[in-house]
Amino acid sequence: MRIVFATAELSPVATVGGLAAAAAGLTSELRRQGVDVEILLPDYGDVELADEAWVPLDVPEWASPAGIRVGTHPVCGRLHLVSVPGMARPHPYLQPDGTGWPDNDARFFAFARAVASWVQMSHPEVVHLNDWHTGAALAALVDGPPTILSIHNLAYQGNAPAWWLSRLGPRAEHFEWFGGTNPLSGAIALADRIVAVSPNYVGEILTPEGGFGLDGALRSRADDLLGVLNGIDTDVWDPATDPHIARTFDADRLEDKAANRTALCDRLGLADDGIPVATVVTRLTHQKGIDLLEPLVPVLDQVPVRLAVLGSGDAELAGRLHVAASEHSHSFVFVEGYDEALSHLMFAGADLYLMPSRFEPCGLTQMQAMRYGAVPVVTAVGGLVDTVPDVDEHPRTGRGVVARRPDPVELCAALFRASRRVGDRRRATTLRRRGMGVDWSWKQPAGEYLALYADLAPAG
Ligand code: ADP
Ligand code: GLC
Repeated sequence: MRIVFATAELSPVATVGGLAAAAAGLTSELRRQGVDVEILLPDYGDVELADEAWVPLDVPEWASPAGIRVGTHPVCGRLHLVSVPGMARPHPYLQPDGTGWPDNDARFFAFARAVASWVQMSHPEVVHLNDWHTGAALAALVDGPPTILSIHNLAYQGNAPAWWLSRLGPRAEHFEWFGGTNPLSGAIALADRIVAVSPNYVGEILTPEGGFGLDGALRSRADDLLGVLNGIDTDVWDPATDPHIARTFDADRLEDKAANRTALCDRLGLADDGIPVATVVTRLTHQKGIDLLEPLVPVLDQVPVRLAVLGSGDAELAGRLHVAASEHSHSFVFVEGYDEALSHLMFAGADLYLMPSRFEPCGLTQMQAMRYGAVPVVTAVGGLVDTVPDVDEHPRTGRGVVARRPDPVELCAALFRASRRVGDRRRATTLRRRGMGVDWSWKQPAGEYLALYADLAPAG
């Protein structure tokens, strides 16, 4: 089976958030399962491919030239890098000052239109689109192959002015949205199937609270909407072989995890004195609820937990976290930045892993944490509900501690509960082993996507 998979991010070539990891993990597992996957990624520049060929694309509504660099990347394998004017930038979406590029609409509409042209030229059996960046491809595809849209995050919709409609293609009227152009609303109307990245997120996006204005559009497609839980790359995230951590370990050698806690505390300047260490690895955005930790920092002494945050994003929030860390340096550390190597040690060295998200379509870090024996403390939203049953509510199957609401008081109570739980060594070991024993890989999710492709693909 041959599918076209279009995405704006792909690890390690273009990484902003979980979309990059999800796209890389799913496509490589699909290939392992025998699917011929053509990955179409914008050509942001500076990516070298072996055995490269250039395929010019005919994009009718766009006067400027477009084409695809096809070749082999050392990590991602075969790649189709879609080159459209203005696409090459140091960051896919953001200018150096942290605001979006002013022409993001033009860049990604051109990308989506080029994806449609490639599909019209190459006739794959199924087209798999991801998020708003690719959604407008459906405006140009008339009588094309069956299509799937994966929604990784409904909060980002790529809203643009109405005049774009005249350039999107023959089905552009579906993309008109309250006097503007919305690539996600059109894709929701036109995709044959819509996949949300966790089963629980399906329910949330059908409600006004979780639908970001698109709940009505989604409700009208409810029969074609399903949830497929993301996985993680269990080769990259493997405490038994991880080159980034101080000492490798597994569920039967949990005592070796302690060396990682010592290394982490050394690195962060925290005392390693038996008080549980909770970590957070995150983008700094409203979604992740990191601001909710600010009022919590001064009460950490009473909890008792030490907290370390690795995060990048919102500069104002980062500034506030730096202040909190300087005022409570014995119990709270903030490392600003995106640091993949350190993130591995943050999971390996942690007793607890905190995720105070306001909403979370799936979330990968709670799975990464459980893979490394850190007990997750999460809010009851999105994919966190699917992956982290509360251990007090489900004594035999629970994997972590759940805060009922994303607010500082609930989070504090949850941290306290979790800290007591991991303070009891025997109970902590049971819980850690439970999280480590789950298969978090892409095997099962890729199988579910494959079944979907098979269901949609024309027979023969
Ligand atoms: P989202 O996509 O909403 O940011 P996810 O949990 O799905 O959240 O995925 C985030 C991914 O990015 C994870 O693989 C996580 O380890 C990584 N990550 C996030 N922030 C950082 C950071 N500051 N440093 C290193 N890795 C990070
Ligand atoms: C988004 C969501 C995150 C999800 C990721 C991959 O960035 O915020 O919850 O895990 O996409 O699907």
